[in-house]
Amino acid sequence: MSSANRIQKALVIESPKTPFVLKTVPIPKPGPGEVLVKIMASGLNPADWILQTRDYFAPHTPYPAIIGFDIAGDVEELGPGVKEISKGERVFLEPKMNSNNYTAFQQYALAPVEFLGKIPKNLDYAQAASVSLTFTTAVYGLLPAHPVGMGLNPTFDDTVSYPEEAALVIGGSSSVGQYAIQILKYLGFGAIIAYASVKHTEFLKSLGATHIIDRNQISFADLPAALPRVYAQPIKVIYSAVVLPEAQDAAYACLANDGKLAVATPQLALKEDAETPGKKVYGVFGSPYTPANREFGLVLWRHLPRLLESGVFVPNRIEELPNGLSGIVDGLKKLEKGEVSGVKLVAFPQNTTA
Ligand SMILES: NC(=O)c1ccc[n+]([C@@H]2O[C@H](COP(=O)([O-])OP(=O)(O)OC[C@H]3O[C@@H](n4cnc5c(N)ncnc54)[C@H](OP(=O)(O)O)[C@@H]3O)[C@@H](O)[C@H]2O)c1
Repeated sequence: MSSANRIQKALVIESPKTPFVLKTVPIPKPGPGEVLVKIMASGLNPADWILQTRDYFAPHTPYPAIIGFDIAGDVEELGPGVKEISKGERVFLEPKMNSNNYTAFQQYALAPVEFLGKIPKNLDYAQAASVSLTFTTAVYGLLPAHPVGMGLNPTFDDTVSYPEEAALVIGGSSSVGQYAIQILKYLGFGAIIAYASVKHTEFLKSLGATHIIDRNQISFADLPAALPRVYAQPIKVIYSAVVLPEAQDAAYACLANDGKLAVATPQLALKEDAETPGKKVYGVFGSPYTPANREFGLVLWRHLPRLLESGVFVPNRIEELPNGLSGIVDGLKKLEKGEVSGVKLVAFPQNTTA
């Protein structure tokens, strides 16, 4: 069925820093190189509540705004010239930000075909909706060539391996951190140390962590002194999924003199960056849509579905939210209060009743 003149439910932020409201909006029409996706599952991210309560992307957010940055669903309609994918296929993708027709907290969205993947048969919609934004954020810090990332494997060459090297992941149990651990395992790192709550030890070891430092026992200030007691060799690669200034300072202090640090924010608290000699610091923007990120984004979306299908990467564990789009509001409050631990919250927009 064509999208012309059809309507859908969407969770809308009418003006900066106002609450979400459920509204009826038109279903958009796909342009060249795009598809319309019927959204079966929407992943929640910290960016959602930060954006809603703080107008974080001002002045770029188009109010009234529809946000949401992880989509899994079915291809409903093809735009002109689309041959890569067929109607009815299950797909997952990271939406364009700041563009209401493309985002996740609604029942239908547009998607450019170049940055989406078919959902592997071993993943359900909710699992697929846990991958795109946070996997992208983890991978951009590690794999793409300098200066976008550390350049550890820009082509997803499965034979690349760093068995002699050690890496630290700060915030190992976060969604970004879980993917960083898995990517470092894919890269064959000899040691992968996770700074996380010890209650997640078995789970993080199942993803590839070799050592856990308990974040509830060791503060960021004490981490540089504690690290050599856990792993004595220099740490040349660190990914910080915690963006607090004190986490960045601790990470920098833990890093070997010629080491590389990626932080899950484009807005670094540290003054050093990838252009400085010695330690290199990469502020990550987890999106394939910027000009700098585009080239690696095309590579990423060619490889991500096969690596999920083969089990090299596993999705996050899921907590399903009730009440369709309306359930997102309470889910984001839990995220804001720091009550989400080691799982991904996922909503199901087609279950919206109000
Ligand atoms: N730059 C970008 O493009 C981009 C994109 C996506 C996300 N991000 C940012 O990346 C960060 C992680 O996002 P996410 O979606 O992965 O978050 P998340 O899954 O919601 O994070 C929750 C987890 O963070 C852990 N955590 C909280 N404070 C910690 C600390 N001080 N030390 C160690 N672990 C801590 C918690 O661990 P416990 O279980 O131990 O409580 C919990 O498991 C957020 O700041 C987010 O805004 C940036």
